[in-house]
Amino acid sequence: MKRSRINEIIREGDAFIRSFGYVMPPFAYWSPDELKAKKPAGIVDARLGWDITDYGEEEFDELGLFLFTVRNGRAEDLSRGKGMLYAEKIMISRKDQLSPMHRHVVKAEDIINRGGGKLVLELFMPDTDGGIDRKAEVTVPTDGVVRKLPAGGLLKLDPGESVTLLPGVWHAFWGEGGDVLIGEVSTVNDDLTDNIFEKPIGRFSNIEEDAAPLHLLVSDYDRWIGG
Ligand SMILES: [Fe+2]
Repeated sequence: MKRSRINEIIREGDAFIRSFGYVMPPFAYWSPDELKAKKPAGIVDARLGWDITDYGEEEFDELGLFLFTVRNGRAEDLSRGKGMLYAEKIMISRKDQLSPMHRHVVKAEDIINRGGGKLVLELFMPDTDGGIDRKAEVTVPTDGVVRKLPAGGLLKLDPGESVTLLPGVWHAFWGEGGDVLIGEVSTVNDDLTDNIFEKPIGRFSNIEEDAAPLHLLVSDYDRWIGG
């Protein structure tokens, strides 16, 4: 994916997010040089920030996701069982843009339609080995109400609605009828280790540096500012 395209997606995403009255924190707008100079552990180590992914497949409009990690707790606190155990992301699934089938081992996540089109989730329960159970009925909480769907059933969330996905539940999602602003409230997030995909794909984009970055992506941190 070209850096110039990532810059464009950041600008478009920022405008889309602001159109709903959601404003991102100040560090979202730091230049790469500012981030390199300040390098706060609370941002760099927690891997807060921009995350534009095509899952390494170079077809962003069909397979991709815009994410911004707003806050993220500490893995040490998870093992202690108290402290900052939570994380928050703001995301955009474009109309008919797939986030591919995956599950998490540690992270429970609430996926919230914050506005725009419908958010469609395809859901499966895990089998005893953690794989996709193509027969088991899916049971998920949606805003305090338990919903049951057939295996692979499509859950459609209108703006304001959300679903709780516990670790193990397989999910893929996309926007229907328009682009969707998505909130994610979850357990501490580690995108380096806690995404298991159905198909062998990457989690981050491969970037061709045809322009200077507007802002660094989380996946740039190790290379650009030394982790
Ligand atoms: Fe997920």
